[in-house]
Amino acid sequence: MRAVLTAGPTLEPIDPVRFLSNRSSGKQGYALAEALAALGFEVTLVSGPTALNDPPGVTTVRVETAREMLAAVQAALPADAFIAVAAVADWRPAETSDVKLKPEKAGFAALKLVENPDILRTIAALEPGARPRLVAGFAAETHDVLAHARAKRVRKGADWIFANDVSGDVMGGAHNTITLITPDGETSFGPAPKDEIARQIARRIHQALAR
Ligand code: C5P
Repeated sequence: MRAVLTAGPTLEPIDPVRFLSNRSSGKQGYALAEALAALGFEVTLVSGPTALNDPPGVTTVRVETAREMLAAVQAALPADAFIAVAAVADWRPAETSDVKLKPEKAGFAALKLVENPDILRTIAALEPGARPRLVAGFAAETHDVLAHARAKRVRKGADWIFANDVSGDVMGGAHNTITLITPDGETSFGPAPKDEIARQIARRIHQALAR
């Protein structure tokens, strides 16, 4: 079986030396890619910039921006499962300057942003046949975690959402607590180390696809 995953942050350049990004370390996505490979999946991991080594047994494709991430995911399909773990920047600078911007210049203070493509929503909306049988995303939330995650599952057209409470030191930390939201019910994993959570989630994905 084939799985395509995204992980890490995206990096959206402002000029040659500045960018917009976020605090995602990539740990949970990398751990999940490794756990799926250990179960026999053929895994492509499309990763934003992280400090992590490529996971063993996984084809890792490194990208920077959300648009590059979407293109790399589309190139890696078809797959049985698509799991979006990346913390994709929702917005990017409307223009990237070829030269370093001067802070005193007008326009720098009011950086114009445009919306990035939603990778999860795009893949979930593919025609039957092209769409992976299982499309899942993560919902990192700091408050009303389950309510936001349930709404996100429906809004994005995903089959599953892993709700992730990031109000503590989850981003960059080694531990995580996750609630899997499916049309049939909800299951909690953790609190546990991210690699243990990854093994449990990987088994669940494997079971769902083997049915
Ligand atoms: O940012 P948000 O909380 O909406 O992300 C929820 C899910 O959607 C995550 O799985 C994330 O990887 C995915 N996502 C995406 N492309 C975006 C924004 C989010 O694939 N532009």
